[in-house]
Amino acid sequence: MKDNEFITLGIESSCDETSVAVLSGERTVLSNIISSQIPVHRLFGGVVPEIASRHHLENINPVIKEALEKANVTWDDIDLISVTKGPGLVGALVIGIAVAKALAFAKDLPVVGVNHMHGHIDAAYLNFRELKPPFMSLVVSGGHTNIVRVTDYNSFTVLGGTRDDAVGEAYDKVARVIGLGYPGGPKIDKLAKEGNPQAVNFKRVWLEKGSLDFSFSGLKTAVLNYVNSEKQKGNEINPADIAAAFQEAVVEVIVGKTMDAMAETGEKKLVLAGGVASNSRLRQAIEDEAVKRSIEVYIPDAILCTDNGAMIAAAGYLKYKEFGGDDLDIDAYPNLDI
Ligand code: KG4
Ligand code: ZN
Repeated sequence: MKDNEFITLGIESSCDETSVAVLSGERTVLSNIISSQIPVHRLFGGVVPEIASRHHLENINPVIKEALEKANVTWDDIDLISVTKGPGLVGALVIGIAVAKALAFAKDLPVVGVNHMHGHIDAAYLNFRELKPPFMSLVVSGGHTNIVRVTDYNSFTVLGGTRDDAVGEAYDKVARVIGLGYPGGPKIDKLAKEGNPQAVNFKRVWLEKGSLDFSFSGLKTAVLNYVNSEKQKGNEINPADIAAAFQEAVVEVIVGKTMDAMAETGEKKLVLAGGVASNSRLRQAIEDEAVKRSIEVYIPDAILCTDNGAMIAAAGYLKYKEFGGDDLDIDAYPNLDI
Protein backbone atom coordinates (compact mmCIF):
# COMPACT_ATOMS: atom_id res chain seq x y z
CA MET A 1 0.00 0.00 0.00
CA LYS A 2 1.28 3.47 -0.79
CA ASP A 3 -0.99 6.47 -0.85
CA ASN A 4 0.14 10.04 -1.04
CA GLU A 5 0.18 10.43 2.69
CA PHE A 6 3.31 10.62 4.74
CA ILE A 7 3.70 7.48 6.89
CA THR A 8 5.33 7.59 10.35
CA LEU A 9 6.33 4.59 12.45
CA GLY A 10 6.17 5.46 16.19
CA ILE A 11 8.08 3.49 18.84
CA GLU A 12 7.37 3.80 22.59
CA SER A 13 9.37 1.96 25.27
CA SER A 14 9.77 4.45 28.15
CA CYS A 15 8.15 2.37 30.89
CA ASP A 16 6.24 -0.92 30.89
CA GLU A 17 4.51 -0.84 27.50
CA THR A 18 6.28 -1.83 24.30
CA SER A 19 4.23 -0.13 21.64
CA VAL A 20 4.59 0.52 17.92
CA ALA A 21 2.15 2.38 15.69
CA VAL A 22 1.80 3.37 12.06
CA LEU A 23 0.37 6.83 11.41
CA SER A 24 -0.77 8.20 8.05
CA GLY A 25 -0.41 11.95 7.67
CA GLU A 26 -0.97 13.93 10.86
CA ARG A 27 -3.92 12.15 12.44
CA THR A 28 -4.89 8.80 10.91
CA VAL A 29 -3.83 5.79 13.00
CA LEU A 30 -3.37 2.72 10.78
CA SER A 31 -2.20 0.50 13.64
CA ASN A 32 -1.31 0.91 17.31
CA ILE A 33 0.03 -2.31 18.83
CA ILE A 34 0.57 -2.28 22.60
CA SER A 35 2.31 -5.10 24.43
CA SER A 36 1.77 -4.45 28.13
CA GLN A 37 4.03 -5.87 30.81
CA ILE A 38 1.57 -5.15 33.63
CA PRO A 39 1.04 -8.86 34.48
CA VAL A 40 4.82 -9.33 34.85
CA HIS A 41 5.30 -6.33 37.15
CA ARG A 42 2.14 -7.03 39.17
CA LEU A 43 4.05 -9.79 41.00
CA PHE A 44 6.41 -7.11 42.38
CA GLY A 45 3.77 -4.43 43.11
CA GLY A 46 5.34 -1.98 40.64
CA VAL A 47 7.54 -1.64 37.56
CA VAL A 48 10.96 -3.31 37.97
CA PRO A 49 13.28 -1.39 35.58
CA GLU A 50 15.64 -4.29 34.78
CA ILE A 51 12.74 -6.61 33.96
CA ALA A 52 11.08 -3.90 31.86
CA SER A 53 14.22 -3.54 29.71
CA ARG A 54 14.48 -7.28 29.12
CA HIS A 55 10.85 -7.49 28.06
CA HIS A 56 11.21 -4.55 25.67
CA LEU A 57 14.15 -6.34 24.09
CA GLU A 58 12.09 -9.52 23.62
CA ASN A 59 8.93 -7.76 22.45
CA ILE A 60 10.11 -4.95 20.22
CA ASN A 61 10.71 -6.83 16.95
CA PRO A 62 7.46 -8.86 17.05
CA VAL A 63 5.53 -5.67 17.93
CA ILE A 64 7.07 -3.77 14.99
CA LYS A 65 6.19 -6.65 12.65
CA GLU A 66 2.61 -6.75 13.90
CA ALA A 67 2.21 -2.97 13.58
CA LEU A 68 3.35 -3.04 9.93
CA GLU A 69 1.10 -6.02 9.12
CA LYS A 70 -1.96 -4.57 10.83
CA ALA A 71 -1.46 -1.25 8.98
CA ASN A 72 -0.98 -3.17 5.74
CA VAL A 73 2.27 -1.36 4.93
CA THR A 74 5.84 -2.48 4.21
CA TRP A 75 9.15 -0.76 4.96
CA ASP A 76 8.97 0.85 1.51
CA ASP A 77 5.92 2.82 2.66
CA ILE A 78 7.53 4.26 5.80
CA ASP A 79 8.76 7.87 5.54
CA LEU A 80 9.83 8.59 9.14
CA ILE A 81 10.71 6.77 12.36
CA SER A 82 9.74 8.48 15.62
CA VAL A 83 10.91 7.24 19.01
CA THR A 84 10.53 8.31 22.64
CA LYS A 85 13.83 9.79 23.90
CA GLY A 86 12.59 10.61 27.45
CA PRO A 87 11.49 11.01 30.13
CA GLY A 88 11.33 7.42 31.37
CA LEU A 89 13.39 4.51 32.61
CA VAL A 90 16.81 4.79 31.00
CA GLY A 91 17.23 1.05 30.34
CA ALA A 92 13.77 0.89 28.78
CA LEU A 93 14.27 4.00 26.64
CA VAL A 94 17.57 2.80 25.16
CA ILE A 95 15.93 -0.31 23.71
CA GLY A 96 13.46 1.70 21.63
CA ILE A 97 16.10 4.27 20.68
CA ALA A 98 18.66 1.65 19.61
CA VAL A 99 16.07 -0.13 17.47
CA ALA A 100 14.88 3.15 15.91
CA LYS A 101 18.41 4.23 15.04
CA ALA A 102 19.36 0.82 13.64
CA LEU A 103 16.25 0.76 11.44
CA ALA A 104 16.75 4.37 10.31
CA PHE A 105 20.32 3.54 9.30
CA ALA A 106 19.47 0.23 7.61
CA LYS A 107 16.43 1.58 5.74
CA ASP A 108 17.93 5.02 5.11
CA LEU A 109 15.03 6.81 6.80
CA PRO A 110 14.91 10.02 8.87
CA VAL A 111 14.47 9.56 12.61
CA VAL A 112 13.20 11.91 15.34
CA GLY A 113 13.51 11.51 19.10
CA VAL A 114 10.44 12.89 20.85
CA ASN A 115 9.40 13.88 24.35
CA HIS A 116 7.03 11.31 25.85
CA MET A 117 4.99 14.09 27.48
CA HIS A 118 4.47 15.88 24.15
CA GLY A 119 3.24 12.51 22.91
CA HIS A 120 0.65 12.24 25.70
CA ILE A 121 -0.68 15.70 24.81
CA ASP A 122 -0.57 15.14 21.03
CA ALA A 123 -2.63 11.94 21.46
CA ALA A 124 -5.68 14.22 21.57
CA TYR A 125 -5.19 15.20 17.90
CA LEU A 126 -5.73 11.54 16.95
CA ASN A 127 -9.18 11.45 18.53
CA PHE A 128 -10.29 14.99 17.79
CA ARG A 129 -9.45 15.84 14.20
CA GLU A 130 -10.66 19.42 14.53
CA LEU A 131 -8.50 20.19 17.61
CA LYS A 132 -5.84 22.87 17.13
CA PRO A 133 -3.64 24.82 19.56
CA PRO A 134 -3.87 27.00 21.60
CA PHE A 135 -5.26 25.03 24.54
CA MET A 136 -4.52 24.05 28.12
CA SER A 137 -3.59 20.48 28.93
CA LEU A 138 -3.58 18.48 32.12
CA VAL A 139 -1.11 15.60 31.95
CA VAL A 140 -1.77 13.07 34.68
CA SER A 141 0.13 9.78 34.60
CA GLY A 142 2.14 7.36 36.71
CA GLY A 143 5.22 9.52 36.27
CA HIS A 144 3.89 13.06 35.81
CA THR A 145 1.34 15.60 36.92
CA ASN A 146 1.58 18.79 34.89
CA ILE A 147 -0.53 21.69 33.77
CA VAL A 148 0.86 22.61 30.35
CA ARG A 149 -0.16 25.46 28.06
CA VAL A 150 0.12 24.53 24.40
CA THR A 151 0.40 27.68 22.27
CA ASP A 152 1.42 25.94 19.03
CA TYR A 153 2.06 22.38 17.80
CA ASN A 154 5.61 22.39 19.16
CA SER A 155 5.31 25.06 21.87
CA PHE A 156 4.70 23.82 25.40
CA THR A 157 4.88 25.89 28.60
CA VAL A 158 4.70 24.15 31.97
CA LEU A 159 2.59 26.17 34.41
CA GLY A 160 2.64 23.66 37.26
CA GLY A 161 3.98 20.26 38.23
CA THR A 162 4.28 17.90 41.14
CA ARG A 163 6.94 18.54 43.76
CA ASP A 164 7.01 14.90 44.84
CA ASP A 165 4.80 11.98 43.75
CA ALA A 166 2.91 11.95 40.48
CA VAL A 167 -0.83 11.48 40.83
CA GLY A 168 -0.81 7.95 39.33
CA GLU A 169 1.99 7.04 41.71
CA ALA A 170 -0.15 8.28 44.63
CA TYR A 171 -3.05 6.11 43.41
CA ASP A 172 -0.74 3.09 43.15
CA LYS A 173 0.76 3.63 46.62
CA VAL A 174 -2.60 4.16 48.33
CA ALA A 175 -3.96 1.08 46.58
CA ARG A 176 -1.14 -0.91 48.13
CA VAL A 177 -1.91 0.48 51.61
CA ILE A 178 -5.54 -0.63 51.38
CA GLY A 179 -4.68 -4.02 49.94
CA LEU A 180 -5.57 -3.60 46.25
CA GLY A 181 -3.15 -4.88 43.59
CA TYR A 182 -1.00 -3.10 41.00
CA PRO A 183 -1.69 -0.91 39.09
CA GLY A 184 -3.88 0.66 41.73
CA GLY A 185 -5.39 3.56 39.78
CA PRO A 186 -8.13 1.64 37.96
CA LYS A 187 -8.86 -0.41 41.10
CA ILE A 188 -9.35 2.68 43.29
CA ASP A 189 -11.46 4.24 40.54
CA LYS A 190 -13.79 1.20 40.57
CA LEU A 191 -13.91 0.64 44.33
CA ALA A 192 -14.48 4.34 45.10
CA LYS A 193 -17.85 4.12 43.34
CA GLU A 194 -19.07 1.98 46.29
CA GLY A 195 -17.59 4.27 48.96
CA ASN A 196 -18.51 7.51 50.69
CA PRO A 197 -16.10 10.33 49.74
CA GLN A 198 -17.03 12.18 52.95
CA ALA A 199 -16.21 9.19 55.22
CA VAL A 200 -12.71 10.53 55.93
CA ASN A 201 -11.60 14.12 55.45
CA PHE A 202 -8.08 13.89 54.02
CA LYS A 203 -6.32 17.26 53.94
CA ARG A 204 -6.29 19.00 50.54
CA VAL A 205 -2.76 20.21 49.75
CA TRP A 206 -2.96 23.53 47.89
CA LEU A 207 0.63 24.77 48.61
CA GLU A 208 1.31 28.56 48.49
CA LYS A 209 -1.42 30.87 47.29
CA GLY A 210 -1.37 31.15 43.50
CA SER A 211 0.87 28.11 42.99
CA LEU A 212 -0.14 25.68 40.25
CA ASP A 213 2.18 23.00 41.65
CA PHE A 214 1.05 19.79 43.35
CA SER A 215 2.17 17.64 46.27
CA PHE A 216 0.70 14.18 46.83
CA SER A 217 3.22 12.42 49.07
CA GLY A 218 1.58 13.70 52.27
CA LEU A 219 -1.74 12.23 51.21
CA LYS A 220 -0.28 8.75 50.96
CA THR A 221 1.13 9.13 54.50
CA ALA A 222 -2.24 10.45 55.73
CA VAL A 223 -3.98 7.34 54.36
CA LEU A 224 -1.36 5.09 55.94
CA ASN A 225 -1.69 6.86 59.33
CA TYR A 226 -5.48 6.63 59.16
CA VAL A 227 -5.40 2.89 58.39
CA ASN A 228 -2.89 2.20 61.20
CA SER A 229 -4.76 4.26 63.79
CA GLU A 230 -8.08 2.58 62.94
CA LYS A 231 -6.45 -0.84 63.24
CA GLN A 232 -4.91 0.11 66.60
CA LYS A 233 -8.35 1.11 67.86
CA GLY A 234 -9.59 -2.32 66.78
CA ASN A 235 -11.86 -0.80 64.09
CA GLU A 236 -12.35 -2.45 60.73
CA ILE A 237 -11.35 -0.26 57.81
CA ASN A 238 -13.64 0.22 54.85
CA PRO A 239 -11.41 0.22 51.72
CA ALA A 240 -14.20 1.62 49.51
CA ASP A 241 -14.66 4.66 51.80
CA ILE A 242 -10.91 5.25 51.95
CA ALA A 243 -10.60 4.95 48.16
CA ALA A 244 -13.46 7.42 47.64
CA ALA A 245 -12.15 9.89 50.26
CA PHE A 246 -8.58 9.75 48.90
CA GLN A 247 -9.80 10.19 45.33
CA GLU A 248 -11.95 13.17 46.29
CA ALA A 249 -8.97 14.90 47.90
CA VAL A 250 -6.87 14.35 44.77
CA VAL A 251 -9.52 15.30 42.24
CA GLU A 252 -10.60 18.47 44.07
CA VAL A 253 -7.06 19.86 44.00
CA ILE A 254 -6.27 18.82 40.42
CA VAL A 255 -9.49 20.24 39.05
CA GLY A 256 -9.21 23.40 41.17
CA LYS A 257 -5.69 24.18 39.94
CA THR A 258 -6.49 23.36 36.33
CA MET A 259 -9.46 25.74 36.42
CA ASP A 260 -7.26 28.45 38.01
CA ALA A 261 -4.74 28.02 35.16
CA MET A 262 -7.52 28.36 32.59
CA ALA A 263 -8.98 31.44 34.26
CA GLU A 264 -5.56 33.10 34.52
CA THR A 265 -4.64 32.52 30.88
CA GLY A 266 -8.10 32.84 29.38
CA GLU A 267 -7.81 29.47 27.62
CA LYS A 268 -11.19 27.93 26.77
CA LYS A 269 -10.11 24.49 25.57
CA LEU A 270 -8.80 21.76 27.88
CA VAL A 271 -7.08 18.52 26.83
CA LEU A 272 -6.70 15.68 29.32
CA ALA A 273 -3.74 13.35 28.82
CA GLY A 274 -1.97 10.43 30.52
CA GLY A 275 -3.15 7.22 32.17
CA VAL A 276 -5.05 8.94 35.00
CA ALA A 277 -7.17 10.83 32.42
CA SER A 278 -9.20 7.58 32.29
CA ASN A 279 -10.28 8.14 35.91
CA SER A 280 -14.06 8.38 35.95
CA ARG A 281 -14.33 10.77 38.93
CA LEU A 282 -11.75 13.13 37.42
CA ARG A 283 -13.56 13.12 34.07
CA GLN A 284 -16.87 13.85 35.74
CA ALA A 285 -15.49 16.66 37.94
CA ILE A 286 -13.75 18.28 34.95
CA GLU A 287 -16.86 18.04 32.83
CA ASP A 288 -19.03 19.56 35.61
CA GLU A 289 -16.69 22.56 35.90
CA ALA A 290 -16.42 22.87 32.13
CA VAL A 291 -20.18 23.29 31.77
CA LYS A 292 -20.19 26.06 34.40
CA ARG A 293 -17.30 27.89 32.73
CA SER A 294 -18.07 27.28 29.04
CA ILE A 295 -14.90 25.28 28.54
CA GLU A 296 -14.56 22.66 25.79
CA VAL A 297 -13.02 19.45 27.13
CA TYR A 298 -11.14 16.90 25.02
CA ILE A 299 -10.47 13.51 26.62
CA PRO A 300 -8.99 10.89 24.30
CA ASP A 301 -10.07 7.22 24.40
CA ALA A 302 -8.44 5.23 27.20
CA ILE A 303 -6.16 3.41 24.75
CA LEU A 304 -4.68 6.75 23.62
CA CYS A 305 -4.37 8.04 27.22
CA THR A 306 -2.06 5.28 28.46
CA ASP A 307 1.38 4.85 26.88
CA ASN A 308 1.16 4.00 23.17
CA GLY A 309 3.12 4.28 19.94
CA ALA A 310 0.50 6.33 18.09
CA MET A 311 1.01 9.34 20.35
CA ILE A 312 4.78 9.12 19.68
CA ALA A 313 4.19 8.91 15.93
CA ALA A 314 1.92 11.98 16.15
CA ALA A 315 4.46 14.01 18.14
CA GLY A 316 7.28 12.86 15.82
CA TYR A 317 5.38 13.85 12.69
CA LEU A 318 4.67 17.35 14.08
CA LYS A 319 8.28 17.81 15.20
CA TYR A 320 9.69 16.59 11.86
CA LYS A 321 7.36 18.86 9.89
CA GLU A 322 8.66 21.92 11.75
CA PHE A 323 12.30 21.06 12.52
CA GLY A 324 13.31 18.11 10.30
CA GLY A 325 15.00 14.91 11.46
CA ASP A 326 17.56 14.31 14.22
CA ASP A 327 21.06 12.95 13.80
CA LEU A 328 21.72 9.29 14.50
CA ASP A 329 23.26 10.19 17.88
CA ILE A 330 19.90 10.49 19.70
CA ASP A 331 20.44 9.67 23.37
CA ALA A 332 18.06 8.64 26.18
CA TYR A 333 17.03 11.42 28.60
CA PRO A 334 15.39 9.88 31.69
CA ASN A 335 14.58 13.29 33.25
CA LEU A 336 13.72 15.24 30.09
CA ASP A 337 11.62 18.33 30.87
CA ILE A 338 8.46 19.12 28.92
O1 KG4 B 1 0.27 7.24 31.24
P1 KG4 B 1 0.49 5.91 31.87
O2 KG4 B 1 0.01 4.70 31.16
O3 KG4 B 1 2.01 5.65 32.14
C1 KG4 B 1 2.91 6.64 32.51
O4 KG4 B 1 3.47 7.32 31.63
O5 KG4 B 1 3.05 6.79 33.75
O6 KG4 B 1 -0.16 5.99 33.33
C2 KG4 B 1 -0.18 4.91 34.24
C3 KG4 B 1 -0.79 5.38 35.55
C4 KG4 B 1 -0.72 4.33 36.67
O7 KG4 B 1 -0.24 4.97 37.85
C5 KG4 B 1 -2.17 3.90 36.83
O8 KG4 B 1 -2.48 3.49 38.16
C6 KG4 B 1 -2.90 5.17 36.46
O9 KG4 B 1 -2.19 5.69 35.37
N1 KG4 B 1 -4.29 4.93 36.04
C7 KG4 B 1 -5.37 5.39 36.72
C8 KG4 B 1 -6.51 4.92 36.04
N2 KG4 B 1 -6.09 4.19 34.95
C9 KG4 B 1 -4.73 4.21 34.97
N3 KG4 B 1 -5.44 6.15 37.82
C10 KG4 B 1 -6.67 6.45 38.28
N4 KG4 B 1 -7.82 6.02 37.69
C11 KG4 B 1 -7.79 5.27 36.57
N5 KG4 B 1 -8.93 4.86 36.00
ZN1 ZN C 1 3.21 7.92 29.85
